[in-house]
Amino acid sequence: MEYTVESADRFIASHAVDGRFQPAVHITAPIGWINDPNGFCWYKGSYHLFCQYYPYKPVWGPMHWGHWTSPDLISWTWVGVALAPNQPYDRLGCFSGTALEREGRLWLVYTGVHEDGQGEVIQEQCLAVSDDGIRFEKYEGNPIVTADMLPPGSDRHDFRDPKLLDDERGLRLFAAHRGKSSGHIVVFRGSSLYDWQYEGELKDGISTMPECPDYFPLEGRDVLMTCLMDQPKDGLRFQNEHHAVVYFVGKEMDGRFAADYLRSIDLGQDFYAPQTVKAPDGRRIMIGWMQMWGEAAPNFYLKHGWQGAYTIPRELSLEGNELIQRPVRELEKRHGRVRAYEQICVNGLWVAEELRAKAYRLQLTLGDMQGREQVIRLKDDGAQAYARLCYDRTSGVLSLDRSGMYWPVLAMPGNHGANEAHDLAQVQLPAGMETLELDILVDSCSIEVFAHGGRAALTSLAYPEDTVQGFSLEGQFTAEKLRFIELS
Ligand code: FRU
Repeated sequence: MEYTVESADRFIASHAVDGRFQPAVHITAPIGWINDPNGFCWYKGSYHLFCQYYPYKPVWGPMHWGHWTSPDLISWTWVGVALAPNQPYDRLGCFSGTALEREGRLWLVYTGVHEDGQGEVIQEQCLAVSDDGIRFEKYEGNPIVTADMLPPGSDRHDFRDPKLLDDERGLRLFAAHRGKSSGHIVVFRGSSLYDWQYEGELKDGISTMPECPDYFPLEGRDVLMTCLMDQPKDGLRFQNEHHAVVYFVGKEMDGRFAADYLRSIDLGQDFYAPQTVKAPDGRRIMIGWMQMWGEAAPNFYLKHGWQGAYTIPRELSLEGNELIQRPVRELEKRHGRVRAYEQICVNGLWVAEELRAKAYRLQLTLGDMQGREQVIRLKDDGAQAYARLCYDRTSGVLSLDRSGMYWPVLAMPGNHGANEAHDLAQVQLPAGMETLELDILVDSCSIEVFAHGGRAALTSLAYPEDTVQGFSLEGQFTAEKLRFIELS
């Protein structure tokens, strides 16, 4: 099949999906499959966000780029397909990449995947440009960064996901690369967007392949985020056997990134490939793919015609070495009806009456905790919880258990392995805390938990029987300043 932007847009316009589980406040494509967010940027008065996109089926396929814009990070408009895999250098896919504004134009740098003459699949970095932020033209001299520019003998197959930085250190392109013994982030220096030279390694020793690097300054430090295709061997626990989404906090010195701190960004089952943008007011905003490789979500096996959504955009900050994530403040514009309770004393089960919405936000502080576990139950109906958020004050473990899902998320082997994640996601918080602040976003098929003032996040898909949702509380504690906020 010959892929073009026009034929993809025509297909999208003439087909529909079953929208039963489509999120109310999270981004999804109109039809088909999305994975990584790409090219997150601010250009001429709007946010732009692109995606890894296969419009024709709700499965991963030859990658296109889809495109949305937004004035405020919350209401997004689908613009259409920006790139289709139709050139010799990107015939097998336009893989992930970033965007940059320069000289009033919007530039995309992405990975073109193709076969060389000998049947070897190679990945090289390509350029496309737009004057209006809508229609993109690929550069006729593509690829701009070839696999041959890597040091002799380098792997040519896993060399992808370019990130552009244009700052006081000059114009640089960072990309993920599979090294001989370990993965690393390689750096190229540009004299222009067309001319690049290999400069070295920003950081090595990162698993075997650190996909989707993002690298940015935050509060005087440098932060590197990346997605590991296998677990680091330092004893830390991550999402599942095959994937770990981590950040390093440190400082770049003489082109090398010295990092002393590695942690997971989000320990939920469904968080991958995050990208950030610097907002015009200076905030650093992150968005991630709210699904995971190696699994089939119910909207796939129920044949709803779409798969994949993105997290709520999150504001990032640092507290010491710790990354703090909170839903962007713009989400408040979507706040609908609010029910507020100053204090609820829970002793056994407390059921919230008639609190039903397709998407809602639940904010509360747990206090005066007695007994072993305090539980927030997300309900199918009055009786059964499809997901339970539990805090064990003695151990300090916060867990999100989605084993009560009506429609299960299934493990499905793929080229990234099967998702070994079980239905339990856990994060270690300090034990014995007197209070625990929680901010929970529930949409038609997802749960995002921000705990302990944003120091911990858990993002997981979770499917109730239908889209009617409420909650109840179980245990022995007081729920302070509880707010149930309708978002849909
Ligand atoms: C990460 C990833 C990227 C690649 C893209 C392909 O999820 O594997 O490394 O560019 O997906 O769709």
